[in-house]
Amino acid sequence: MNNASILKEIIEQRRSVFPKDYTDAEIPQEVLEEILNAATLAPNHKRTKPWRFKIFKGEEKAQLASEMQAIYKATTPEPLFLEKKYNDIGFKINKANVVVSIVVNFSGMVPEWEEIAATSMAVQNMYLTCTANNIGCYWSSPKIVDELKNSLTIEENQKCLGLFYMGEV
Ligand SMILES: Cc1cc2nc3c(=O)[nH]c(=O)nc-3n(C[C@H](O)[C@H](O)[C@H](O)COP(=O)(O)O)c2cc1C
Repeated sequence: MNNASILKEIIEQRRSVFPKDYTDAEIPQEVLEEILNAATLAPNHKRTKPWRFKIFKGEEKAQLASEMQAIYKATTPEPLFLEKKYNDIGFKINKANVVVSIVVNFSGMVPEWEEIAATSMAVQNMYLTCTANNIGCYWSSPKIVDELKNSLTIEENQKCLGLFYMGEV
């Protein structure tokens, strides 16, 4: 297959795959590095490289799950609190082999939307590289990520755009 056909196939194959469908297998370190490296190759105006990614695995990932659950509990009025949703937040993070936080850094050098656009293109590169490596993945954007403090340092000029879940399928 030529490059155009290969690219077309990967773009067409790309899908969001959710943690319930991930196996317990470890994503090889070199594949993980390939995915993150692809993200950094995204176009970005004035070379601001606005994406900030933090990789969560193992114990750090377990702590992220606990913090997300605690935030959900603390920010949801009692009558709206759903035990199922609380459990699901923990399940998804624990079931994924790797979770990457997606943060955009606003440099002030270009409009904010351009930095969000560039970060989104970086995420698409991760999606496509996951597809090419048979890794399931998806971008989750719950509002509660704004409240993360222990697992993630979000500076004044930054915003967390969500979490990128990954797992072998
Ligand atoms: C910016 C962005 C945020 C998203 N946030 C969520 C989310 O919070 N929950 C979710 O289930 N899917 C989320 N998704 C995934 C979309 O639901 C998914 O891409 C869409 O259903 C199309 O499916 P596909 O990715 O398989 O083509 C998000 C996608 C994008 C691009």
